[in-house]
Amino acid sequence: MATALVTGGTSGIGAAFARQLAARGDALVLVARDAARLEESAARLREAYGVEVEVLPADLADRGSVLRVADRLTDVTRPVDLLVNNAGFGVHHALTDPDPGPHEHAVDVMIRAVLLLGGAAGRAMRERGHGAVVNVASTAGFMTMGSYSAVKAWVMTYSESLANELHGTGVTVTALAPGWVRTEFHERAAIRTSSIPEVLWLDADALVAECLADVARGAVVSIPSRRYRALMWAVRHAPRPAVRAASRRLSSSRH
Ligand SMILES: NC(=O)c1ccc[n+]([C@@H]2O[C@H](COP(=O)([O-])OP(=O)(O)OC[C@H]3O[C@@H](n4cnc5c(N)ncnc54)[C@H](OP(=O)(O)O)[C@@H]3O)[C@@H](O)[C@H]2O)c1
Repeated sequence: MATALVTGGTSGIGAAFARQLAARGDALVLVARDAARLEESAARLREAYGVEVEVLPADLADRGSVLRVADRLTDVTRPVDLLVNNAGFGVHHALTDPDPGPHEHAVDVMIRAVLLLGGAAGRAMRERGHGAVVNVASTAGFMTMGSYSAVKAWVMTYSESLANELHGTGVTVTALAPGWVRTEFHERAAIRTSSIPEVLWLDADALVAECLADVARGAVVSIPSRRYRALMWAVRHAPRPAVRAASRRLSSSRH
């Protein structure tokens, strides 16, 4: 029986990963801050799918807590076969804001935690000769929309680098770059979504199903849905000044 550890597994995209992994019979380790919500999610998953679900309450902004999760990933007595580095949030603050706190928080949770957990999982999985890591990046990482874009661009480059480092070891690494998905993400970050056309919204379950199929075939980059693959192909091949201009327009429509 395989075991998957999902950070941010209580809501949105992470919860969709938890449901689909449980549905295929994987045991789960769920990580998030809200301990009561973790227990509720675990109880629902045990009841619905009959799998073992462990909860590990942790604030991934706190380095010590990240190291506790890393210890769980390297515990040789309870191997983890799949790590989903998913926990994250939008950042809607100007880079020139006198308080850099929100940006530092984003770096702590979406860069430092991803780095420490990816390294720990990669080491343990390489030792066993199999395993998979999924790092949730974003299509925003191909654009230039503030620290969120910069952080997610880091996640993409980091994942491709980790995939190279682990190439041939039996361990795969996949960067998932979703477009817009209706979750708690936008409300939590106070991002206005009324200007986003309906066609650009993705369903979390469909997105995760595509991603897991990509993981199964060892894809390094997963961009779910044909429309986002086409859009991102255009963005990645467009002149950078055009990408910056489009990013400026998009950013101002969401303030
Ligand atoms: N929704 C989108 O449109 C979209 C698009 C592209 C990429 N993404 C990425 O997808 C990932 C998941 O986002 P989502 O849309 O599913 O958001 P969500 O519904 O707000 O869920 C976020 C999850 O992360 C956990 N979390 C947040 N901060 C945490 C922390 N400091 N320590 C531990 N856990 C933490 C939350 O639980 P607690 O609050 O209990 O900690 C929750 O389980 C993120 O990395 C996001 O950047 C989202």
